[in-house]
Amino acid sequence: MTEVKKLVLTHYEKLQVRGLLDEVIKEPGMTNQYSFMEKAVLYAQELPRSIRKVFYDFKRKEEFAALLVSGNPVLRHGAGATPKGYIELEEDYCLSDAKILHGLYGSLLGEGIGFTSQRGGSLYNNIIPFEGYGCIANSSSGSVLDFGFHVEDAFHPARPEYLGLVCMRNDERAATVLSSIDGIKLREEEMNVLFESRFRISHNPIHNTSDVVEENAQTILFGHRDAPYVKINAATLDVGEYEGIERQALEKLLNHFSENRVTLILEQADCVFIDNYRCVHARDSFNANYGGGARWLSRVVFASSLRKSREMRDSVDTRAINA
Ligand SMILES: [Fe+2]
Repeated sequence: MTEVKKLVLTHYEKLQVRGLLDEVIKEPGMTNQYSFMEKAVLYAQELPRSIRKVFYDFKRKEEFAALLVSGNPVLRHGAGATPKGYIELEEDYCLSDAKILHGLYGSLLGEGIGFTSQRGGSLYNNIIPFEGYGCIANSSSGSVLDFGFHVEDAFHPARPEYLGLVCMRNDERAATVLSSIDGIKLREEEMNVLFESRFRISHNPIHNTSDVVEENAQTILFGHRDAPYVKINAATLDVGEYEGIERQALEKLLNHFSENRVTLILEQADCVFIDNYRCVHARDSFNANYGGGARWLSRVVFASSLRKSREMRDSVDTRAINA
């Protein structure tokens, strides 16, 4: 039920993509994440039509839980040492070719967004295990503990439709786990309860929120009842706090996710886009190589419309949503 669409670039597509990347990188300012994202949608239209078609079908048809793109002509000289901190917070933070290509692909699905509560509204977030964070639950900088199933930014009304990751390094072969809600079997009263505003959805530690979002009394399901969308953070959910039909429905949903999970081992330069309305994701614990050889992913999330979040952004120009 959790199906991943795999796209491997052909020789010809690689040449075209590399040509476009060289052109983008040559333009002044394009390695700055904010300047780049303002032009990413424009440049993305110059990716080969065969690639754009796969992305459009992924978005339009909602058949696949995720889209994995491999064979990307980037990181030809390697990724460099894994950073020791959150480099996206530095003034001169510079995007590599892999991150630029990832941003172009994602811009075929929507607009890159950030949250004011997450690393200063940075659009790109580096996901790296740090020794001091090893045992912090549900942290993107952790590794020792499982990071449970969650929808990215599930707590927030402006949560993105797509979660994008590009793999800079994964020598530990840590698995990215996915599970789709497709095929969920619920009794009518279970479905009803999950469509009601009766559940708490909390934020993960990466968000340093200012409590502008009401995390209590949220629905878990939304959209159409024949093929519902989901927002849940099982990583912070205590099923024991619920009883009766609420608990029964939650347990059924979580069992569905466990039974339908698939694992991806991302290779260097792989780009993956997860449907964040139909799919939860998780990361199992792993033995991290701390330091320059540590697992290193870069994440950007994409929303189909910036306008929908306008009331939660301080200006038209900013992509950082208040949280
Ligand atoms: Fe996540």
